Amino acid sequence: MSGAARPIGIFDSGLGGLTVLRELHRQLPAEDLIYFGDTARVPYGTKGARTVTAFARQDARFLLRQDIKLLVVACNTASAFALDDLARELPVPVLGVIEPGLAAARRSTRGGAVGVIGTRGTITSGRYQAGLAGWLDPARIVANPCPLFVSLVEEGLLDHALTELACAEYLAPLREAAVDTLILGCTHYPLLKPAIARYMGPEVVLVDSAEALASAVVAELDRGGLRREGAGEGRLAYYLSDLPWTFRTEGERYLGKPIDHVETVNLDELEAS
Ligand code: DGL
Repeated sequence: MSGAARPIGIFDSGLGGLTVLRELHRQLPAEDLIYFGDTARVPYGTKGARTVTAFARQDARFLLRQDIKLLVVACNTASAFALDDLARELPVPVLGVIEPGLAAARRSTRGGAVGVIGTRGTITSGRYQAGLAGWLDPARIVANPCPLFVSLVEEGLLDHALTELACAEYLAPLREAAVDTLILGCTHYPLLKPAIARYMGPEVVLVDSAEALASAVVAELDRGGLRREGAGEGRLAYYLSDLPWTFRTEGERYLGKPIDHVETVNLDELEAS
């Protein structure tokens, strides 16, 4: 298959990365997109760097078997821990969610403080904070993990008293620091935008890493002459390492439309065969 006709591979720890696939499909409707969600091993956000990096390498190898032209790491935790290794090791361009999110935050801030929220792994890795410190006084960087947000989204409690409480608990330091921009550094958080905006106030810009990343993918394809043009609607294929009970409702929540067909794959068995 010619370079531009090959698919784009996207992986996440689970279903949350479908927010990234949705945005990619919106901005690049002609591209074939192959999604792999590591639902058997989710969450990544509570695990250490070595474990997440080993999982990310295996996820990437699965997608490389499908002859992808570009790899999107649609998971903030995997981007935080494994992006450098993957970019060095793989024969295709590799894009993660952190750099595009940082660039969008830089464009949006009006001289105030900048906040970032994510899983414990992402925030502990310090990747967002280090990127922000390249151009922002460290005293104006506020980072806070929001571990319960992922479960609230997975349970569909997007507009619920529990979510309001969690926002007050996790976002208070960001509101106190009067951040003018808040990076949503986790694939699940775009679904909590209304609740987060209600708590933070309308003047705070919420940076959605899915949108920022999709724009970066468009630029990378154009740079490499890899954009698939005029071939009709691209094919969307979904692979999961486990089929969670809630996958239909949850998947639809992230994707905004039903998932017609999904295949389950056991990566260990596949690699041993
Ligand atoms: N996909 C993860 C992220 O964006 C959130 C879920 C998890 O902890 O695996 O960091």
